[in-house]
Amino acid sequence: MLQVADAVQAVRTGRSLTEVLARCPADLRPGTQSLSFYVLRQLGAAEAARQHLAPKAPPPKVEPLLLSALALLWPGAEERPYADHTVVDQVVSAVRKRAPASAGFVNAVLRRFLREREAIVLALAAQPQALFNHPLWWIEQLQKDWPQQWQAILKANNQHPPMTLRVNARRSSPEAATSAYLQRLTAAGIAARPVGPLAPQALVLDRAVPVSALPGFAEGDVSVQDAAAQLAAPLLLQAGLPAGARVLDACSAPGGKTVHLLELADLDLLALDSDASRLERVQDNLKRLGLKAETRAADARDTAKWWDGRLFDAILLDAPCSASGIVRRHPDVRWLRRPTDIANLAQIQADLLDALWLTLKPGGRLVYATCSIFKAEGQAQIDAFLQRQNGVNAQEVEGVTGHLLPLAHNGDEAAATEPSQLDGFYYALLLKS
Ligand SMILES: C[S@@+](CC[C@H](N)C(=O)[O-])C[C@H]1O[C@@H](n2cnc3c(N)ncnc32)[C@H](O)[C@@H]1O
Repeated sequence: MLQVADAVQAVRTGRSLTEVLARCPADLRPGTQSLSFYVLRQLGAAEAARQHLAPKAPPPKVEPLLLSALALLWPGAEERPYADHTVVDQVVSAVRKRAPASAGFVNAVLRRFLREREAIVLALAAQPQALFNHPLWWIEQLQKDWPQQWQAILKANNQHPPMTLRVNARRSSPEAATSAYLQRLTAAGIAARPVGPLAPQALVLDRAVPVSALPGFAEGDVSVQDAAAQLAAPLLLQAGLPAGARVLDACSAPGGKTVHLLELADLDLLALDSDASRLERVQDNLKRLGLKAETRAADARDTAKWWDGRLFDAILLDAPCSASGIVRRHPDVRWLRRPTDIANLAQIQADLLDALWLTLKPGGRLVYATCSIFKAEGQAQIDAFLQRQNGVNAQEVEGVTGHLLPLAHNGDEAAATEPSQLDGFYYALLLKS
């Protein structure tokens, strides 16, 4: 419980959960991850309940433990991981270790919550942060961008994402490779189903498994990648590129889309990323899959530093963004972002677009992608680019370009009990005349 409370407090003070979990002892990591994911999905409700029950915030050593307990006791959509008395016992004994003088207070608050739970839940349902478990500014932004779907999106953000695989189609057609790998999964007792023609290499597992259980994972027969992310490489290669075409993957780390491109075509590929340590993961991915690309740590906006002046046939710009489309996979991002981040990120995306457009051949193509559903990082970004740049032709591809929302069955509430197969994404295909 102490590990979980520490992870939650780290997120509340601005550190990413991925970074926190990487430092967690290996034997405690899976348990800490699943409980802290659970708590972060109920954090808006827990914060509101804490304020209701104890208007003066308890000391920093105590508050994250109290919040974790309230989140674990809150009657959310998911089955609660522990019985009520177990949560109270564990949290009170953790408080006894950290701040013994506060143990009685925490015990009293939690017991009152259990006595009045139904009434408190009902009263706090009037607060959007408690009801939807997102910051108010995030809720308001979604209301503006998606007036019909915002509630369904917020609910979907608190569901468990499916584990999706991308079958390596290097040696055969995507359909044949996927069906052959499905048979291998079935033989290994792992249930899965294909996503369909939009993402022909994608298989969604009924239940997540460790990658070590996937047949041929170490040999590169399969990778883990959401189905929406699997749309990028085919979109860039859609019209076919000559063998050896010069391609830039401008924001490549950790390399999921880099290796997908190389699985599908023989390319002279340069993989850039501004973060040298994340670039090592691109190299690991290339190695596991037996593929080759030049990798380079550089700020893609600063072309004078890394570009040799040879124009690219195609560019993938999978830009840094708020990650508002993948909240279900990263339940911390909504609590980490600040409202000003969106405008800052949109400026970086615009600068990347402007700089990279100059490195593209006439007749070349650029795919702009973000894993965001905020329009400022998607449609509005591209509309502004088309306004300020001549010679750009934005091409639509049915089911792929535009905003993809992370909703099962197009947001039909009744049918949305199972998670969508796709994360939220935005794609634009820009042709240069
Ligand atoms: C959405 S992630 C890319 C994911 C990757 N394409 C994949 O499919 O695995 C965005 C990446 O952009 C990198 N980045 C951010 N600003 C950048 C810049 N100015 N130039 C190059 N890379 C940048 C980040 O380090 C991050 O790895």
